[in-house]
Amino acid sequence: MLCLGIESSCDETALALYQGDIDKSLLEKDLKSEKISYREFPQGKLIGSVLASQAELHALFGGVVPELASREHYRLIGKLYDKLLYDTGVKSQDIDLISVARGPGLLGALLIGMAFAKALALGTNAKLIGVNHLEAHLLACGLEQKLIFPALGLLVSGGHTHIYRMNSPREFILLGKTLDDAAGEAFDKVSKLLNLPYPGGKWLDSLGQRGEIIPKLLPLPYLNNDNLNFSFSGLKTAVSMYISKNPQLLTLSLEQEQLNTDNIELNNLAASFNHAVATTVTEKLKRALLKEKKGEIKAVYLAGGVAANSFVRKYLLNFTNEFKLPLLIPSLKLCTDNAAMVAYTGWLLGGLGLHHSLSLNAVPKGQN
Ligand code: KG4
Ligand code: ZN
Repeated sequence: MLCLGIESSCDETALALYQGDIDKSLLEKDLKSEKISYREFPQGKLIGSVLASQAELHALFGGVVPELASREHYRLIGKLYDKLLYDTGVKSQDIDLISVARGPGLLGALLIGMAFAKALALGTNAKLIGVNHLEAHLLACGLEQKLIFPALGLLVSGGHTHIYRMNSPREFILLGKTLDDAAGEAFDKVSKLLNLPYPGGKWLDSLGQRGEIIPKLLPLPYLNNDNLNFSFSGLKTAVSMYISKNPQLLTLSLEQEQLNTDNIELNNLAASFNHAVATTVTEKLKRALLKEKKGEIKAVYLAGGVAANSFVRKYLLNFTNEFKLPLLIPSLKLCTDNAAMVAYTGWLLGGLGLHHSLSLNAVPKGQN
């Protein structure tokens, strides 16, 4: 089965092709909801992938401008598709299944990918499947290693901070989510306060690696409760208050192109901020593990742009080592938005017998 993946939910226009055979006996087991180990799941192959990022365009405005994003997707999607076919030697008629990210995301941006997917499905008779963009982020691990279920998944991106129980590729149970800012959003807003370039997560990360964590400099957000949700807006306010009491942090601010790494106070603030976010997500995951039935969870997945963060990776690795669980993280290029994850997720779900009709709709807020 050859599956085309289409991703246009935010500011990346991307298409990819994934090919492989699915063992039909797994479909039967999955339908009977038997506990199956996807360790034995057959792997296919990513045979091509193209991506155009609009990051530079939106950086001019300090954040993604939805209208501009839609226009860029519209301008580029056809050209990228042609390039993908040219690069791989595949013809439109060879495609068996078209998988498109249907949400969550920006409505206008999603609709460009959806319209393209439907038109192609209509023109080629390929089957169509809409996949959840966040679930695809977590399943992206399967592009590089065998999937393991049941598992816990932490999705930390610019728009979301979700904890899931993942029972199978098609059964994700949301256990907790952010009540306000997403983790990546908190990184970006704090970077903005510090005059760092947008998106600021990676800058705060690298400054933090040079700094020292100062205990109690910043609060550990939203831990004094027994739910699995997150709230990062208080942490952002704490940084803002700290900056207003320490204005020298800003007078020593960074050049856009050159990262000044000698500002010890700034590095310490960055380290403390990274520590607060990483501690909170790790602690909530640990609580999720303890709440789920003992011994049932076989792995922990981490995905989304903030999965690139060195503190989050280190803290989660310590946690999973403590509980002797494997930690599955896609490589960096698969952590950020891409179409390989959409093609792979569609291939998995399509192989399990799931399809949609041409009346499929975008779901900007994200349910399947
Ligand atoms: O998943 P993603 O590429 O886009 C979506 O939100 O869908 O995530 C982007 C987010 C941005 O907020 C960016 O600042 C953050 O990921 N990010 C990081 C790091 N690299 C990217 N945050 C913290 N540390 C990093 N190293
Ligand atoms: Zn994403």
